[in-house]
Amino acid sequence: MIAKPKGTYDILPNEVGDWTKLEDAIRKVCKLYNYKEIRTPIFESYNVFHRDINDTSDMVTKETYDFKDRSERLITLRPEGTAGVARAFIENKLYVDSPVNKLFYMGPMFRYERPQKGRNRQFNQFGVEALGSDSPLIDAEVIALGASIIRSLGLKDVSVKINTLGDLQSREKYREVLVNYFKQYEDSLCEDCKNRLIKNPLRILDCKVDKEKEFFKNAPKIKDYLNDESKNRFEMVLSALDQMQIKYVIDDNLVRGLDYYSHTVFELEVNILEFGAQNVIGAGGRYDNLIKDLSGPDIPGVGMAFGMERLLLATSYAGKKLSKPDAIHIYFISLGEKAKLESIKLANICRLGGLCCEMDYKDRGIKAQFKEADKNNARFTCILGDNELASFTINIKDNVTDEQETIPLYDVYPYVINKLNQASSSPCASCNIKKEN
Ligand code: HAM
Repeated sequence: MIAKPKGTYDILPNEVGDWTKLEDAIRKVCKLYNYKEIRTPIFESYNVFHRDINDTSDMVTKETYDFKDRSERLITLRPEGTAGVARAFIENKLYVDSPVNKLFYMGPMFRYERPQKGRNRQFNQFGVEALGSDSPLIDAEVIALGASIIRSLGLKDVSVKINTLGDLQSREKYREVLVNYFKQYEDSLCEDCKNRLIKNPLRILDCKVDKEKEFFKNAPKIKDYLNDESKNRFEMVLSALDQMQIKYVIDDNLVRGLDYYSHTVFELEVNILEFGAQNVIGAGGRYDNLIKDLSGPDIPGVGMAFGMERLLLATSYAGKKLSKPDAIHIYFISLGEKAKLESIKLANICRLGGLCCEMDYKDRGIKAQFKEADKNNARFTCILGDNELASFTINIKDNVTDEQETIPLYDVYPYVINKLNQASSSPCASCNIKKEN
């Protein structure tokens, strides 16, 4: 047997319902905030993600799936959505027609990480990117959209952690102070942080290894080195969140694992015990230089992304069920070739009219077919045997009311429609016939 690659998983038919419900909930919220969907390739040129040789993020330095195609082009499977969306934004000149582009995407991302609960090598992200505005209000809007998604899924124990990295001037001042501080403890730093000390000292604050060390806790804070403009900008983001009554916690050590951020950075964390270490379900921030770094115009951006597996895990731990069990309208039980031919005809008439139908294709006995009808959660069971065929009738049973009747063979469709319209709810989650008619 060939097994799936490590860090990947199959989404089985009984799980797909939750995924489509999640996608529907996301689409609904994106519509409310007026974000439009964009779909970009799953693989991009290597340089879309490997822009800067000084990049210190684990994602870029250790986790990308890079390969050469058959024409020796260097390709990378996308580890995240932001850089690919930025590339598409530049290449398609989306900035020409509208000054602000508010975009969202969903799909698989790939990172060569050590798999564990909530961490996979192929995983799905839902993300938004607002390109073209440097207003602090749009930073707050992106966070509000994230909070709305969480609310729409019925999740409560989620906290927003926020910080600012300031502008370049503030960061340079802070960088100098930070380097001098951590140099005193260089011997105690992990190997990654020793490297970060030279390339990107801010990222030391993000280190999971050194985090618990005493000198780490006393490190200088960016808030003490922000210039007035950066300070005011951050205050405006917080005021807008206050206006929308979105609760947040300022986390001085939050710097985020990706190198493209400036000003606002944030993470959404679930406080569910079973979640373990991977409790950040969504994260994002402002990236004012990314589009320029990809050879585009000087256009700012802000965005965020959720791990969709983590959203689903959180809803299931919180005891929320997104989708109803699958159900169908009619199961046709038939015995013999003639009855089967009649059943396939009837089922197709009903399907064309919007009813979900199933029948037996394995010549099973009558008991086994009843079992199948049950397994399929059929609202109605139609039974077609020799007696019914001879009299051009069919036996139909309503599995909710237990009513059973013999009706003219070709009355199945109007009979079922009529019954469904009388009932308070349709049994079929995927095609709510009552609403459609
Ligand atoms: P990120 O923090 O690297 O940010 O990923 C965002 C979310 O994706 C994480 O909070 C987590 O829920 C999920 N995630 C990341 N890696 C994995 C994994 N290996 N398995 C399962 N879930 C994972 C970004 O990707 C940025 N592009 C976000 C952004 C958008 N910033 C601005 N715009």
